[in-house]
Amino acid sequence: MGLTVVRLAAAGGVEVVGAIDSGASPHLGRDIGDLAGAGTLGVAIGADIASGLLGADVVIDFSTAGAFDAILRGAARSGVALVSGTTRLEPASLALLDKSALKIPVLWAPNMSVGVQVLADVVRRAVAALGDYDVEIVEAHHNQKTDAPSGTATMLVQAAERGRAGLVAVHGREGDVGTRNPTEIGVHAVRGGGIVGDHTVHLVGQFDRIELTHRAMSRELFAAGALRAARWLTGKSAGRYELAQMIAGD
Ligand SMILES: NC(=O)c1ccc[n+]([C@@H]2O[C@H](COP(=O)([O-])OP(=O)(O)OC[C@H]3O[C@@H](n4cnc5c(N)ncnc54)[C@H](OP(=O)(O)O)[C@@H]3O)[C@@H](O)[C@H]2O)c1
Repeated sequence: MGLTVVRLAAAGGVEVVGAIDSGASPHLGRDIGDLAGAGTLGVAIGADIASGLLGADVVIDFSTAGAFDAILRGAARSGVALVSGTTRLEPASLALLDKSALKIPVLWAPNMSVGVQVLADVVRRAVAALGDYDVEIVEAHHNQKTDAPSGTATMLVQAAERGRAGLVAVHGREGDVGTRNPTEIGVHAVRGGGIVGDHTVHLVGQFDRIELTHRAMSRELFAAGALRAARWLTGKSAGRYELAQMIAGD
């Protein structure tokens, strides 16, 4: 994701002033533009967070749940806004996000696609309007993805829960599970090949069903969303911001 962000940033006239990777990266010292296929940018990849943030208005983080806290702390210390798409964050990291939002503007989204944000809003309203329809979510990703369900599926579960109180996620079904409980949101993960990311929310009634699907066709979708968020966040006062606010034009 980092390389995709750099490639789109360079193409879109955003100045890349730093590039941070793990201390174990084989790419340390290399020019980030060369590595990303964006041409030489004169920015060497380093592992030191403070140096990487020098001169930045905003840092875009797509790393790991383990790396996230240090990057966020570094951004808060340097007074640099943070946009993060890193998934699987622990509750302690989300709490740190709230604490850091007292010092800097922060925007974290488990899915940076504007389309998925719109889908979540549609799901919330559809679940509320449909009453007792059964809700099932199927997500599909490439065979290298290590976690399930996806952060986006979790976000869609939360959207459905906001639409109708009392719904509870049930992950996969196997064996003698009994008849379906009306309060269930079934969540299912498909893994295969090079699927970038598909999510379908099935809303099933007695006589009809609605299927709401989002298909990501390229990882550039997420990088473009993060860059749009970075532009939007730059210059904002400290606080925790949501992608939905950006979309609403707040
Ligand atoms: N929100 C969204 O829309 C969205 C979209 C796609 C992906 N994601 C999430 O974004 C994250 C990254 O995804 P990816 O596919 O780009 O994964 P990836 O290819 O594994 O990239 C993770 C990067 O983080 C680096 N890193 C690890 N530890 C670090 C540290 N301590 N300090 C600085 N950098 C560190 C890794 O470096 P090394 O290779 O040296 O370890 C690697 O370059 C994941 O959490 C993924 O789920 C979110």
